[in-house]
Amino acid sequence: MDMLQKECFLRLGLLLCVSFGFLLHPVVTAVIPLGSKLSVVDNDFWVSSNGDFAFGFFSITDEPNQFSVGIRFNSKSIPYSQQTLVWIAGAHVKVSNMSYFQLTPQGELVLFDSLHGVIGWSSQTGNRSVVSAVLHDNGNLVLIDTKQNIIWQSFDTPSDTLLPGQSLSVYETLRASTKNPQTSYYTLYLNASGRLQLRYESNVVYWSSESPSTANLTAFLTTDGSLQLRDQKFKSVWSVFGEDHNDSVSYRFLRLDLDGNLRLYSWTEASQSWRSVWQAVENQCKVFATCGKRGVCVFNASGSAECRCPFKVTDANNCLVPYEHDCASGIDMRRYKNIYLYGIYPPDDPVITSSLQQCEQLCLNDSRCTVATFSNNGSPQCSIKKTNYITGYEDPSLSTISFVKSCSDPFAADPGLKKSPPRKPSPQRLCVRCMVGAASGTFVIFAFVQLGIVFFIRRRKSSIMGRVALAFAFPNSKGLMVLSFAEIKSITGDFKNRIGPNMFKGVLPSNCLVAVKDLNASIEERKFRSAVLKIGSIHHKNLVKLEGYCCEFNNRYLVYEYAKNGSLDKYLDDSTLCKRLTWRNRIEICSSVAKAICYLHSGCREFISHGNLKCENVMLDEDSVAKVSEYGFAIVDGEATYCGFSAVKDVGDFGKLVVTLLTGQRDHEQVCEWAYEEWKEGRIANVVDKRIEGGAITEELERALRIAFWCIQMDKDKRPPMEEVVRVLDGTLNVDPPPSPFQLPCNPQENGSESELESVV
Ligand SMILES: *[C@@H]1O[C@H](CO)[C@@H](O)[C@H](O)[C@H]1NC(C)=O
Ligand SMILES: *[C@@H]1O[C@H](CO)[C@@H](O)[C@H](O)[C@H]1NC(C)=O
Ligand SMILES: *[C@@H]1O[C@H](CO)[C@@H](O)[C@H](O)[C@H]1NC(C)=O
Ligand SMILES: *[C@@H]1O[C@H](CO)[C@@H](O)[C@H](O)[C@H]1NC(C)=O
Repeated sequence: MDMLQKECFLRLGLLLCVSFGFLLHPVVTAVIPLGSKLSVVDNDFWVSSNGDFAFGFFSITDEPNQFSVGIRFNSKSIPYSQQTLVWIAGAHVKVSNMSYFQLTPQGELVLFDSLHGVIGWSSQTGNRSVVSAVLHDNGNLVLIDTKQNIIWQSFDTPSDTLLPGQSLSVYETLRASTKNPQTSYYTLYLNASGRLQLRYESNVVYWSSESPSTANLTAFLTTDGSLQLRDQKFKSVWSVFGEDHNDSVSYRFLRLDLDGNLRLYSWTEASQSWRSVWQAVENQCKVFATCGKRGVCVFNASGSAECRCPFKVTDANNCLVPYEHDCASGIDMRRYKNIYLYGIYPPDDPVITSSLQQCEQLCLNDSRCTVATFSNNGSPQCSIKKTNYITGYEDPSLSTISFVKSCSDPFAADPGLKKSPPRKPSPQRLCVRCMVGAASGTFVIFAFVQLGIVFFIRRRKSSIMGRVALAFAFPNSKGLMVLSFAEIKSITGDFKNRIGPNMFKGVLPSNCLVAVKDLNASIEERKFRSAVLKIGSIHHKNLVKLEGYCCEFNNRYLVYEYAKNGSLDKYLDDSTLCKRLTWRNRIEICSSVAKAICYLHSGCREFISHGNLKCENVMLDEDSVAKVSEYGFAIVDGEATYCGFSAVKDVGDFGKLVVTLLTGQRDHEQVCEWAYEEWKEGRIANVVDKRIEGGAITEELERALRIAFWCIQMDKDKRPPMEEVVRVLDGTLNVDPPPSPFQLPCNPQENGSESELESVV
């Protein structure tokens, strides 16, 4: 059985367990009175008067004790395993086994989860004089008022299925079930000019009805098995028919399937199965991203579509290209005929007109290019793909040629080998660029600062010990001020002005403001001095600069440049200050912080970890530009470690920071899980901090959330390097929809918290 079919069967198979839930207590009633109740434990359900449809709880996921409520086929002539779901309340709302569903005395349908004490879904018809509900013979659940007016009906909120007699109006959608995250982005949509469209996410249209361009049309499924577009006078302006259009068929439905194809199904008595009698996209391989990241879509010998991975360089679900941005010993371009490869997100890879050779060369010269496809349908085109998984399709009739990059290094290219370990920056190499920077410009500046201090000391000689002046007289070769404890006390006014945990405001004699951090932890003098010198040599516009330090007896202080506007946590916690964090600001802060961390990790060649990235350590200057502070040192059990953390810890902390900044909520664990759930279910607008005036820009939000969810993957191998994070935020690199971040890999010990600590000191 091929992969695509398997998914469909899986779905039908799941209905088997669904049906058992319904076996026990059918309540056959045309009219459902107010106060009627169904519960998971009682296994009861409402049935239409002809017995064809039933409404009740069922379990659609593999997870135990997760239930949804909805409508399914119930006819005796259809075996349980084929009693397909046709509607789900709230599309994909899941509740616990302690849940019930009620038509309340106030006339509202409510799905209540007692275990969590929450309302999972409601029809929101509480004050609209509803007197009863009816499950109609056509599968429509309707709420009516005293005058028999329809107040609410399930036909108005379709999930993935249309039944005969049901319509889809402009802007309404059918959404493929989200069971498989790879395919949950498919929707059927009726646009304002009367075109029915199949779309991937919201921007890729891979099928469109060839209907006349007319406003105010409605899509309608007829009982004799035809999908029509009708105008306001109910006249059909466009239609398609199932191949059994004129046959007598008892049951039909139209469904947007998991594989992204729209199909019309008929019940066939003879074979006791649902048969597809029409599908929108003839060639399944032409459904956008139908193979997702699982490889290339091909038709097998028996004529059904299948996803194949030409390289077998796979992790569980992905088909990866044998190239990882760096080849020690040259690059090979493998050539594949009749294969078209393309990017999924964003889908519009740059397309450049060129010859076959130019196309190959373009990819070869771009270190981020992983594959390229050359096609020539009248005009030659080259499509460059920059993600490391493969998707596309193969067809003997295609004249396209694809190039797939691989390292000529026989080991790296060996498809049998497992993924090469993530590259780590070498700690040995010295950062020439930074040292040059430190030795020139900054030294001069610091010389002035220090002259100022000498002057200051002279003036206040009486109050400060004599040897203070002596210390200032010998500026450090990196331009860092070396201060005594007495000087620290002096510039902070005896630690009078506390501005954060162990952080004090100070004033240099030059009137320059500084922030003085008391490390308040033990660290050997030699290690501290050598670490401070390294940190002092780093210059990046998004890093708070280290201006000086104190290392006297057991005192360890760091003196940083002062960020006037304070740290990010203050902004997020304060309702007035928060208004200043516009959407643009927030996105720029994400990007700035990413650049700063990236610079620490690899910009200076010498790896420096942050170790403690959080809102409190992100400062905003006068122009609200973010500067990361307190990098390099992290305190563990009262011991200061320099660069003691792995890059993946910083990446994870960064992901949490992004979620915090976008949601405005500082309680990480739950916020991340909640945000992921909302994102997965397509409700990303919910995630955004409501205090942002004008809201978010959807595309940027999507990108930022995706990369954040990649960053916080519990499986640390899945976390991206900071360079990629920066490029995604800049919009120059595609990012795939992330898997659930909260799943541990099979070997959990590799992900214990200890592994975040590296003995670099
Ligand atoms: C309901 O689910 C919980 C776990 O979520 C489980 O412990 C309990 O046994 C279940 N109860 C029933 C009646 O199935
Ligand atoms: C509807 O879709 C068609 C083609 O698929 C497109 O030409 C048209 O502009 C769309 N109309 C609107 C209002 O977006
Ligand atoms: C479409 O319907 C709306 C409201 O029903 C109406 O205002 C509009 O004029 C209609 N447009 C056309 C082109 O018929
Ligand atoms: C159904 O039958 C009618 C005449 O009986 C015919 O005109 C029509 O083309 C048939 N439809 C299809 C889809 O075969």
